[in-house]
Amino acid sequence: MTDNLSSRLLAWYRLNARSMPWRGHPDPYAVWVSEIMLQQTRVETVIPYFEKWMARFPTVTALAKASEQEVLNQWEGLGYYSRARNLHKAAKIVAEKYNGELPRDLDALRGLPGIGRYTVGAIASIAFGMDEPTLDGNLRRVFARLFDVSEPADAPKGEKLLWDLAAEHLPKGQAGDYNQALMDLGATICLPKNPRCLLCPLTELCAAREAGTQELRPVLKPKKETPHVVHAAAVIVREGKVLLAQRPSEGLLGGMWEFPNGPVAGDPAEGLAQAVETGYGFQVQAGETVGVVQHAYTHFKITVHAFRAEAARVSRRPNLQWVPIAELENYPMGKVDRQIARKL
Ligand code: ADE
Repeated sequence: MTDNLSSRLLAWYRLNARSMPWRGHPDPYAVWVSEIMLQQTRVETVIPYFEKWMARFPTVTALAKASEQEVLNQWEGLGYYSRARNLHKAAKIVAEKYNGELPRDLDALRGLPGIGRYTVGAIASIAFGMDEPTLDGNLRRVFARLFDVSEPADAPKGEKLLWDLAAEHLPKGQAGDYNQALMDLGATICLPKNPRCLLCPLTELCAAREAGTQELRPVLKPKKETPHVVHAAAVIVREGKVLLAQRPSEGLLGGMWEFPNGPVAGDPAEGLAQAVETGYGFQVQAGETVGVVQHAYTHFKITVHAFRAEAARVSRRPNLQWVPIAELENYPMGKVDRQIARKL
């Protein structure tokens, strides 16, 4: 059953659906991979990663068998690396418990690492044709405008309202197209700034357009300012090898490699020795500057001052490793450390 909203939207989608390598892909695994990659990341960025990924890990079983290092390597540059670690963990569970087939069951899907309410709805509707709604940032904006929702969309009450709206107009038997049509509409027409209402197939149904409140929707809770931290990093080279440290497996950039580094308060060159001593238990002396690299994560910004450094005696710790400079590409790193590595 389609109502006015869904039939207009589906008609628009038939003509305007963007072409994507996972669309029309019969394999639920491909849909799953694409949906995880597309969280917080734009379609254009994802496409080359998706294609490389599917070539390297064509099935759940292939992914389950891969090492974490290789998985992180393939993911490098997409950011939010816990997505890759969870996908890997979930693939191992699916390989073992479900014979390598993504389960066609909402509760079983929800039980897998990295699969939350949004992803369950997306996989169930797109890969399995189930009548399930979903709500990502694009859909949230579209519905907040269509129904001129003034509740904050990122607070429980507003969120519930928006999920209900996403379910209310879902056309039975066409949920996958409906959800993807809303994603495309949000990405190409119902833009966060300067929405292209003149081109929108739903413009006559849009309450925010009627009220002139498009730019004010969705309402979001006020953002806290993101803190800015300054780190110093040591690039210690000996006989063609450089010292790297592996981050703990959980948390930010979990399991990835970096140059020994730590926070500094004043002059970064002067602070380097203390930062390395505190974090890794050995002493260094800062030499010439390698470079200064900045990066903005979701919750903070960081500036890293990298220095060549001499170490008297490097502590033996399992997370420290001398890596040949020629092999640095095989060690998964975040953007900051990859930029430093490329300067060597
Ligand atoms: N964003 C997340 N999933 C998507 C999909 N299947 N199509 C378009 N945009 C998306």
